[in-house]
Amino acid sequence: MSQYENLSKSELEAMYDELKTEYNSYKAKNLCLDMSRGKPNPMQLSLSDDMLKVVISKEDYIGEKGVDYRNYGVLDGIDASKKLFAAILEVEPSEVIVGNNSSLNMMYDTVMRCLLFGAGEGKTPWLKQGKIKFLCPTPGYDRHFAICEHFGIEMIIIPMDENGPDMDLVKEYAENDESVKGIWCVPKYSNPTGITYSDEVVKAFADLNPKADDFRIFWDNAYVVHHLYEDGDELLNLKDLLKEKNKEDMIFIFGSTSKITHSGSGIAAFASSKSNIDFMKKLLSIQTIGSDKLNQLRHTKFLTCYEEILDHMKKHADIIRPRFEKVLEILDNELLPLGISEYTRPKGGYFISFDTIEGCAKRTVSLCKECGVTLTGAGATFPYGKDPFDKNIRIAPTYPPVEELEEAMKIFVIAVKMATIEKLLND
Ligand SMILES: Cc1ncc(COP(=O)(O)O)c(C=O)c1O
Repeated sequence: MSQYENLSKSELEAMYDELKTEYNSYKAKNLCLDMSRGKPNPMQLSLSDDMLKVVISKEDYIGEKGVDYRNYGVLDGIDASKKLFAAILEVEPSEVIVGNNSSLNMMYDTVMRCLLFGAGEGKTPWLKQGKIKFLCPTPGYDRHFAICEHFGIEMIIIPMDENGPDMDLVKEYAENDESVKGIWCVPKYSNPTGITYSDEVVKAFADLNPKADDFRIFWDNAYVVHHLYEDGDELLNLKDLLKEKNKEDMIFIFGSTSKITHSGSGIAAFASSKSNIDFMKKLLSIQTIGSDKLNQLRHTKFLTCYEEILDHMKKHADIIRPRFEKVLEILDNELLPLGISEYTRPKGGYFISFDTIEGCAKRTVSLCKECGVTLTGAGATFPYGKDPFDKNIRIAPTYPPVEELEEAMKIFVIAVKMATIEKLLND
């Protein structure tokens, strides 16, 4: 029961008028504040500027087996970069393909290859199997859902809680419906809830026996080293668990340095079983002669080992932690006592997931917009951009300076309160 529900109609109306006055005073400021996307801020990007000064000498660019990294070739990435991603993603270097700057690009290509050529050697292309479906834990990453929508893959909502996706539902769909071919997962510091899948959830993934023998888990470990605090979350190694059961072809792992070094100029990786890697390399060899090896070299000379990455990530955390804490402080002060919302307290990643009462997310986002605060569109965290309960909003605190964030959040809480009262008065 929220505090507002105890109020009479006239009390609610009086409160609304007060909020409206405050709202209008912010509106008169003609602000332009953007909390729409999870981008690193310029201070974070500058942490990696020394990478631009890395001197690459002949000893560096003549790599394994005498290959010249300035030239064509090395389809799956230079050895040092495969070693680095192997450490980050907890796989073997031989199970990694390092690509160019975007893991999203690799995910898109992977889905497209499964559609056209099958999900592994000898598998029937998904396109030849009629209607296919993906399981979509929600709230989730809008661009995963956009890939499915783009290719006409039907999406099935799987609710998430603080432990990860509802695994009973995942099991029910995956084990009974052969047209269910995949699931999107951001297992650590999930986008947008910030939660990390519990051991039970990861083990339940390992225990899955999907009806389709070409079912694939898209394990997007985008935030694997993105801790905000010393006591970071731990994630079980699903690939190892699957290997024990002879099922490791089932997992496609993705990662990148987009939020470690420079978002637009990082390096990305795909990891899977050796047989999937061989299959993908065969297809990749038609697509390209090789990726940008000098950027891979720059990265591995700048961050030479896993420990250096963890140290580097602490510097990121020092910059963005105060932003997360500012958002939570304002929410805790202004909204928590009212009981009209729920939100997550991530220990890592890039987002806070916020739920209004049912039917208020769109209105909150549009009130913010009118007042100069841009948020991720309401609904974006659900397949087809449609939140069935119209309550989830993704808060992205990393980019704006703390002062701007504070102002934006003050407007946000006013908007949440106004949207909630409007709903209560209308119902
Ligand atoms: C879960 C997730 N995966 C992938 C990406 C994009 O990764 P990349 O920059 O490597 O394409 C993002 C960016 O926000 C993300 O949140």
